[in-house]
Amino acid sequence: MDVLVVDHPLAQTRLTVMRDARTDSGVFRAALHELTTMVVYEAARAFAVEQFPISTPVAPTQGTRLANPPLIVPVLRAGLGMADSALALLPESSMGFVGLARDEDTYEPRAYMESLPGDLSGLPVLVLDPMVATGGSLVHCCQLLVDRGCTDVTICCVLAAPEGIQRLKDSGLPLRLVTASIDEGLNEKMYIVPGLGDAGDRQFGGM
Ligand code: URA
Repeated sequence: MDVLVVDHPLAQTRLTVMRDARTDSGVFRAALHELTTMVVYEAARAFAVEQFPISTPVAPTQGTRLANPPLIVPVLRAGLGMADSALALLPESSMGFVGLARDEDTYEPRAYMESLPGDLSGLPVLVLDPMVATGGSLVHCCQLLVDRGCTDVTICCVLAAPEGIQRLKDSGLPLRLVTASIDEGLNEKMYIVPGLGDAGDRQFGGM
């Protein structure tokens, strides 16, 4: 699995704002929007393009467009804050949604919402989830996509723990990961360290 770390200075300043415990939710969301633009921009370097004829006011020439715009899939709830900026960069894309919860009995991730096309063969998918912690829920989400025929999944996140990256690699699924940082690891509560806390609570307030 390819892993790309977006270590651009402007990405790191937005990440610092998000890590800082003093940052309020409005500023946190604004930093997440801007950082998502940078992470998706770097992820899109690998996208295939095709040429097509256009005319400028001066002369005919060749234009460039994405050959196969990806389906964007934010993972609810924390991925919601990345959805607008990804779609703004990829206006040709459509959006699906996956909502994941932990099953109270088995502790395994369970999808409570799968709003996805039935057939994903030939369609690249961009999964948005700010935190790759254990990787368990993301593997579950990506398996849903692969079960629908997807063979090309790019996960865009803000922070990834080495344990989560290993879990994604071990899944054997056709994945690529783009992140703004690989942090030290997980604590006993499965929070990323140093991390930024609960990405959903930081955006939307605690429940
Ligand atoms: N999910 C979060 O929101 N934060 C973490 O640190 C780990 C998982």
